[in-house]
Amino acid sequence: MRTKDKLLELLQNHSGEWYSGEEIAASLAVSRAAIWKAAMSLRNDGYIIDAVRNRGYRLSSEADNLSELGIWKYLRPECRMLDIRLLQEVGSTNVLLREKADAGYPEGTVLIASTQTDGRGRLGRKFYSPAETGLYMSLLLRPGSLLPEQAVRLTTIAAVAVCEAVEAASGKQAEIKWVNDIFVDRKKVCGILTEGSISMESGGFDYVILGIGINVYQPQDGFPAEIVSTAGAVFDRVQKDQKNILAAGILNRFIGYYLSGNYDRCSKEYRKRSMVIGREISLSLNGKQVKALAVDVDQQCRLVVKYENGETACLTAGDISVKME
Ligand code: BTN
Repeated sequence: MRTKDKLLELLQNHSGEWYSGEEIAASLAVSRAAIWKAAMSLRNDGYIIDAVRNRGYRLSSEADNLSELGIWKYLRPECRMLDIRLLQEVGSTNVLLREKADAGYPEGTVLIASTQTDGRGRLGRKFYSPAETGLYMSLLLRPGSLLPEQAVRLTTIAAVAVCEAVEAASGKQAEIKWVNDIFVDRKKVCGILTEGSISMESGGFDYVILGIGINVYQPQDGFPAEIVSTAGAVFDRVQKDQKNILAAGILNRFIGYYLSGNYDRCSKEYRKRSMVIGREISLSLNGKQVKALAVDVDQQCRLVVKYENGETACLTAGDISVKME
């Protein structure tokens, strides 16, 4: 870990508190000059770091600093089984968590990154994951009794948990584009990637990785050209502690639904927020784009569609596009 990352971790876990250069240098076993250089480099990255002679350094408590302690502050007691690890930079939290799952890490391991260099989206796409403005989180589950065909339930619970947390934090209405894209003000602010490994012995899941990526703010350099017309952010301006509040809000709600098994209530909340029901959609069928009417999202969260020839079908997975008014 670089001195800069170690300094950030230390300051993040004590956000708003002063630390003298001497104390930090001793705890990180580097010179005070190295601490100064690391603090300036963090400032260049956009962190609001106060540096005052005779007092030392502190991370502004008014800024939106993601931290493990900051997330724990908002978590409910039923989340105590979680093991949350915050990383500054990773390729992909889903990929790293898969490695940990293969190595035997338990259910409830959560990886959260400040930035991803190779964030993954559905259908082999990339997920743009710039530093500072997003929340990139993966949760390891070992739902032994869940059958592979029921996996969509986990995505459904995650989508509802994200919507509820976004709504509570921002006061804005969140909508779901089947299966699992979350929209605010008609722009995609969150994507969910669920990946699993099936046990050959039981035919059930060995593990499931639930990856959630949120654009909390507009990226400093804007969204890349390929997504600029479709992507949006939850908040218009930086607000204190929102990333910790959102991370905890999602985990609280997800774990609540997951442990209670109250899937019926969850699927009701999902349907309430569906932005596709009753609208014309286009989807890929046998390699061809076809039009259909999205009639409903059923109890199992399958999308019920009616094709132009009058036939109906229940879709369990896929990628649809909806025309935005
Ligand atoms: C999509 O919109 O297609 C799904 C995007 C999922 C992105 C999240 S960010 C955290 C986790 N790690 C990844 O590499 N992807 C997921």
